[in-house]
Amino acid sequence: MSSFSVRTLPYFRVHIRLPGDKSIAHRAALLSALSSRTTILNNYPLNNDCLFTLRVLKQLGIKIVIKRLEGFRGDVRIAGRGLCGFRHPRSSLYVGESGTTLRLILGILAGQEFKSRLIAGESLSARPMLRVTGPLRMMGAQIDSVRMKRGSKIEEYPPIVIKGCRLMPITYTLPVASAQVKSAILLAGLFAEGKTSVIEPVKTRDHTERMLKLFHADIKSAGNKVTINSERALVSPGKVYIPGDISSASFFMVLAALVPSAEITIENTSINPSRLGVLKVLKRMGADIRIVTRTKQSFEPIGTIVVRNRCLKGVRVRKEEIPSLIDELPVLMVAAAFAQGQSVFEGIEELTVKETDRVISIQENLEKMGARVEVFRKGGFSAIRISGGKELHGASVRSFGDHRTAMSMIVAGLAAGGSTVLDDADCINKSFPGFTRMIRRFLLKS
Ligand code: S3P
Repeated sequence: MSSFSVRTLPYFRVHIRLPGDKSIAHRAALLSALSSRTTILNNYPLNNDCLFTLRVLKQLGIKIVIKRLEGFRGDVRIAGRGLCGFRHPRSSLYVGESGTTLRLILGILAGQEFKSRLIAGESLSARPMLRVTGPLRMMGAQIDSVRMKRGSKIEEYPPIVIKGCRLMPITYTLPVASAQVKSAILLAGLFAEGKTSVIEPVKTRDHTERMLKLFHADIKSAGNKVTINSERALVSPGKVYIPGDISSASFFMVLAALVPSAEITIENTSINPSRLGVLKVLKRMGADIRIVTRTKQSFEPIGTIVVRNRCLKGVRVRKEEIPSLIDELPVLMVAAAFAQGQSVFEGIEELTVKETDRVISIQENLEKMGARVEVFRKGGFSAIRISGGKELHGASVRSFGDHRTAMSMIVAGLAAGGSTVLDDADCINKSFPGFTRMIRRFLLKS
């Protein structure tokens, strides 16, 4: 466990370009493996989670070559073996802490006629899986998992043993808005006889739908319903460029908004509309934030984002907005702690089942820095109120083993007075191994 110390960042003005988006990268790797040709993925992020997806695919018999480039990114060559070309794995498939790898690969393994055992790291082994295993069982997959009581209900956890088959199509209404669950069902839909539909309570990120279209699958969206037809083969486009990760970019957006006279230009970033909640909320807070160039011809929209320092004001974020900014909530809460007035984030229950309970991790850390944070929990509904406007001071903060809590608290430490020590920065490698190096460079230049 290595700690990381920061002090007040007086000023910075930089241009950056980030490794590919984690969500898009997982999908690109999985569909490349399921197609019958070779695909090259450019700007693939070499973070722990995305490397676990490649590792699991290798265990399933897929040949993968990684050419490492500077800045924790690489060009990855994947030799697809077709929809039913995976080999029976000789040992358990270890997905580390990658929830997206686990939930998405379950959808694919549900269509493979062999048995696989999936095991996970400590934190992921405590995250709920019934949301995925439930609908996949309805489609015909045989699944065993660890069943335990969570509150008054039975939940399921890894290790998970899955034996797939030719599946039955279903129409499934998601009980919680989750892109991972939607994606698992759509991927299983490739192996079902006929049309599989998923209905979402609120639209979530649509990277799976876009990637499936790029690989010529028969998939259509109408309102909140997505329908996929079973497929004989996926056709690879040959090359896929993964645009920069907007969730990683969000830490720099908030930092530039908070540090006096700061300005940042973030090039080649994914600006998929289903992920733009962070920009919308920061704009409502009064941030000077602009998308200055847009490339529309790609399967995922790409743009350059410019953010300049401005004084921020409090904001109200409603439940329906949460899926569009679920991973950016911790850093938006940091922005709220520095903003003038009160901010309220409603319907944030899903934050409690991430790598840690991020409601608790952010509350504890921001309070240590002098912010006023109140949490409301009633029935299944959670909200947080942050009263901003007070000068925050540096403190000893904790990552709780969670990458997004860790990066958010580094941003808070750079904007607060004095120095801040984070107990463990290693967990950041889960999504953004270059983050601390970039921050060190900002501090050296200032
Ligand atoms: C993801 C979906 C979200 C998000 C996660 C990545 C994805 O999770 O929090 O980091 O790639 O589909 P949920 O589907 O659980 O909301």
